[in-house]
Amino acid sequence: MSVRRLAEQQPASFAFTPENEAWATREIAKYPEGRQASAIIPLLWKAQEQNDYWLSKPAIEKVADMLGLPRIRALEIATFYSMFNLEPVGEHFIQLCGTTPCMLRGAGAIREVCENRVGEQRKVSADGKFSWLEVECLGACCNAPMVQINDDYFEDLTPESFGKLLDDLAAGRPVKKGSQAGRVSSEPEPGKGGSLTDSALYDGSVVGAWKQRFDEARAAEKEAAAKAAAEKAAAAAADKK
Ligand code: FES
Repeated sequence: MSVRRLAEQQPASFAFTPENEAWATREIAKYPEGRQASAIIPLLWKAQEQNDYWLSKPAIEKVADMLGLPRIRALEIATFYSMFNLEPVGEHFIQLCGTTPCMLRGAGAIREVCENRVGEQRKVSADGKFSWLEVECLGACCNAPMVQINDDYFEDLTPESFGKLLDDLAAGRPVKKGSQAGRVSSEPEPGKGGSLTDSALYDGSVVGAWKQRFDEARAAEKEAAAKAAAEKAAAAAADKK
């Protein structure tokens, strides 16, 4: 996880559009008197949406002021959650999951595609089309490796399918969300289903095999201990003669 700091270049000000201002007022009104600060996450999110998907310092301060919060409290929240971008992002903002299940399933190779195609992490590509960031688990581990691009998940990636996805996005072609390997949600891959319907799971031939090994190892230990005790007793008896 990278250090999260505000962008060096900041705009002079931030104001919600009249439509978003009205939305924010309705959102704040959902909370009981004295608990308006609880609206901070949706307000920060709306500010980010309006601001090309990143939060500037004036935007964070504006939200704090609307909620009657010390500005430092809003800054603490905005800098804590990786869902809030603190610097400009590309038109297609890629969040690459780098947590263990994704890493074990090939996230390292997906990361290389990001580096080769887009460039350095947290930097917008020259054409403004892409930027990327490695993040912690995005909750789609069953379909690892995966990335989130803007609001959508793309799963079961290979370097080839991910490269094609970036080509299609760059060219403005329609893309398929979700699994890129053809499976539905996190169901088994086509042709590889049936793991829980395998009768071997229930007839003892799988579980029984390792249990049998443990039982055999325990029996061998017992036998060795009994043999050692018998030898010791025999040696003691011989000494007495
Ligand atoms: S580890 Fe990648 S989505 Fe959970």
